[in-house]
Amino acid sequence: MQAHKNMKAYCVKDLLKGDLLLQEISIKGWVRTFRSNRFVALNDGSTIHNIQCVVDFENTSEETLKRITTGAALHIKGTLVESSGKGQKVEIQVAELDILGDAHPDEYPIQPKKHSLEFLREKAHLRTRTNTFGAVMRVRSALSFAVHQYFHSNGFNYVNTPIITGSDAEGAGEMFRVTTLDAQKPPLDESGSINYKEDFFGKETNLTVSGQLEAEAYAMSLGKVYTFGPTFRAENSNTSRHLAEFWMIEPEVAFMDLDGNMDLAEDFIKYVVGYVLEHCTDDLEFLEKRLLDEEKSKPQAERSEMTLTEKLRFVVDNNFMRVSYTEAIDILKNSKPNKKKKFQYPIDEWGADLQSEHERYLVEKHFKCPVILFDYPAKIKAFYMRLNDDGKTVRAMDILFPGIGEIVGGSQREERYDVLLEKVRTMGIDEKELWWYLDLRKYGTAVHSGFGLGFERLVLFATGMTNIRDVIPFPRTPQNAEF
Ligand code: 4AD
Ligand code: MG
Repeated sequence: MQAHKNMKAYCVKDLLKGDLLLQEISIKGWVRTFRSNRFVALNDGSTIHNIQCVVDFENTSEETLKRITTGAALHIKGTLVESSGKGQKVEIQVAELDILGDAHPDEYPIQPKKHSLEFLREKAHLRTRTNTFGAVMRVRSALSFAVHQYFHSNGFNYVNTPIITGSDAEGAGEMFRVTTLDAQKPPLDESGSINYKEDFFGKETNLTVSGQLEAEAYAMSLGKVYTFGPTFRAENSNTSRHLAEFWMIEPEVAFMDLDGNMDLAEDFIKYVVGYVLEHCTDDLEFLEKRLLDEEKSKPQAERSEMTLTEKLRFVVDNNFMRVSYTEAIDILKNSKPNKKKKFQYPIDEWGADLQSEHERYLVEKHFKCPVILFDYPAKIKAFYMRLNDDGKTVRAMDILFPGIGEIVGGSQREERYDVLLEKVRTMGIDEKELWWYLDLRKYGTAVHSGFGLGFERLVLFATGMTNIRDVIPFPRTPQNAEF
């Protein structure tokens, strides 16, 4: 067979549109299945769908046919024709087939059968070769594009805040230390403590838990900004909602109060979820079926009443319920599970921190829609939140989602120098570390607000997956940093 020279390289997604019929094309991808020594289902990651390639087995050597196995990389040249078979409109009549890379069936772990998500987690470098992970990661990519699109079309500037930091933004002390000191023999000062003056930065530094504090500096000059970057938390929570390394989106806006912040968060979430509904139809269709299958193994009472698309549509079409912390506590106090002592952490008084069981009760059982809780007790929230006139609550807001719990945490920031300084002192935070943050309140201070949205929790919601380890390419969790 003659080499087809000026043949154009396409991706599967383009070919399946069907408008290139009878053209000679070239395509590269990986074998998903090979049937009857004739039909290759080829996938190249551009879509969840495969293209069928029909091999002329009489003119293909036995040796080559044997090497067409699941996972092998192929280069195929041929003609796009109408398919007479069921399940596809077009197929490729193969003229030339090159094996670019073998995947020996005795060794290659991703075979065309159902693998458990747990098994695939251990093969994270190969798991995107499955339909489920291909779909999840394409949706993740689309969501990330939608995030930038939303902010750019609304006049926000994208800011890259530092990953190595000297301050603990959340004051929770759950940070990973960054150091070049010798762990065996660190230099000590006179009192016998580690002498960080000799460390790389001349002080103690950590991986950031949030870009908020630096974003505030930029909001107080560029007006509307957002960050979208990796954040790190050394909290030892081995749950399906926590990662040690996750991506956070943090808008910060000058002259905006808490009501504006809630409006922004709601509008933003509706936009990005709507974007996925509009642009990821094939992947959503697959993920919806996957979820239905998964739900079949659950007891009837725990099954969701809505399909994945219905859940996403619901978020786009309905207002989020806005409820104060005080109202929420009343609801929880009088709730059935609280009275029947079904909560692991019973709610008996105002001031209690809400656990995920409470958040999920409010969202899934009581309101049955996304909920924005606001005006939390100052005691359970970070130092930078604006104190209300009652002296005991702060202008905080958390957005709670069905199946997820907290997806957003945000607040109006304390813009009054004296009040902020007082708070820093009573919370025992080193004010010297925050000199520049306090400066923002000395020079041209103004009302401002922002929030942080955990990107992986958003991807969880949009894909209907249930474990956060399955929506980030290479998850970092306690005892796990493989790959
Ligand atoms: O509520 P958090 O801790 O808020 C902040 O960090 C603020 N500085 C944000 C701001 O106002 N700019 O975290 C924000 C969100 C949470 O609502 C949750 O979605 C996500 O980040 N998140 C995590 N996601 C995955 N794994 C973890 N360990 C997470 N911790 C928080
Ligand atoms: Mg929070």
